[in-house]
Amino acid sequence: MTKKIVLAYSGGLDTSAAVPWLKEKYKAEVITFTVDVGNVVDAEAIRKKALDVGALKAFVVDAREEFVNSYIFPALKADAMYEGKYPLATALGRPPIVKLMVERAQKEGATAVAHACTGKGNDQVRFDVGVATLAPELEIIAPAREWNMTREQTIAYAKTHNVPVPVTVDNPYSIDDSLWGRAIECGVLEDPWNEPPENIFIWTKAIKDTPDKPAYVEIGFDKGIPVSLDGEEMEGLALIKHLHEMAGEHGVGRIDMVENRLVGLKSREVYEAPAAIVLLKAHQALQDLTLTKDQLRFKARVAAEYSDLVYNGLWFSGLRQDLAAYVESTQRYVSGTVRVKLYKGNCLIAGRRSPYSLYDYNLATYDKGDTFNQSDSPGFIRLWGLPTKTQARVQPEQLSK
Ligand code: ARG
Repeated sequence: MTKKIVLAYSGGLDTSAAVPWLKEKYKAEVITFTVDVGNVVDAEAIRKKALDVGALKAFVVDAREEFVNSYIFPALKADAMYEGKYPLATALGRPPIVKLMVERAQKEGATAVAHACTGKGNDQVRFDVGVATLAPELEIIAPAREWNMTREQTIAYAKTHNVPVPVTVDNPYSIDDSLWGRAIECGVLEDPWNEPPENIFIWTKAIKDTPDKPAYVEIGFDKGIPVSLDGEEMEGLALIKHLHEMAGEHGVGRIDMVENRLVGLKSREVYEAPAAIVLLKAHQALQDLTLTKDQLRFKARVAAEYSDLVYNGLWFSGLRQDLAAYVESTQRYVSGTVRVKLYKGNCLIAGRRSPYSLYDYNLATYDKGDTFNQSDSPGFIRLWGLPTKTQARVQPEQLSK
């Protein structure tokens, strides 16, 4: 029986060149598998291209809703931002691709799966660890890691193998997009001293082109999940798309950072993540109102752990599930509304309210209605300062430094 390989297929040059390459090298039949996590413009064109370059079958699966509900929203509830800056769009997009691809491979009786990730990125780790976890019996083939071709060589290979080379091939950037954000790498960006050229941005406007009037939007949350905009209930996918447009129009969501990859190197990354930035900020603002100081502090630690493991390809791990269970528990009262102001590249929190708000006006006010008993403070302060007072008496020289 001929070997069957299911290839994660984007329709781009590398994954297209991988089809004839796999067929030749492994004497195999190749089934392409494309998962739409918000990145597919024309599913039919992708299927046709896959078949044209020699795939036996070509599948395109719309996983956008699953991506929103099972990956994006759990990450939002966890406040997941890698190194405090990157909302993890690419990293979150990989587990649903792996899960669906593995299922397809099993249905097709394939013995291997393949992806066109290079050997120096994070995505190979996310694919390989995910596959090894969900279906250890499947062989993993990574053509781009094996073939060691430069971009020019890939183009030459494509040309001799009937793989169409897009005119945009002199576009020097490597781009990955999903509903949660767009990552742009390579070209002039590889020098961290270079300012990102304006033409790499397609989701967010330059400040000079943004409206002079701010836009306001009220985001309603139910147990940590955004459920409405300006009072109108919306499904997650529609809500994200709506915020994406609005925030992009006001130039919100550009991120330019030097990031630490799992494989040990630093890389300069530019992202556009308009909806993610707005939702993460709004969600945090609502938590500020509804979680205690201790819950917030502990949750921030969990957020850092959670973000690292998602980034590092460990979505399908016990620890991720454990942390997700903790996060879920924290969201019981994270319901309410956040009023966001979008203006000249900024996403500002203009207001927040919740039926479960722990903000107590009467405790906070300096006006009439004050219920805070100021005469409780001196005794409290005496006990609070007791350890340092004792230390100052016994070890005085150490403390005045
Ligand atoms: N550095 C980001 C990450 O590791 C983005 C990677 C973009 N991937 C790509 N194939 N261009 O999540």
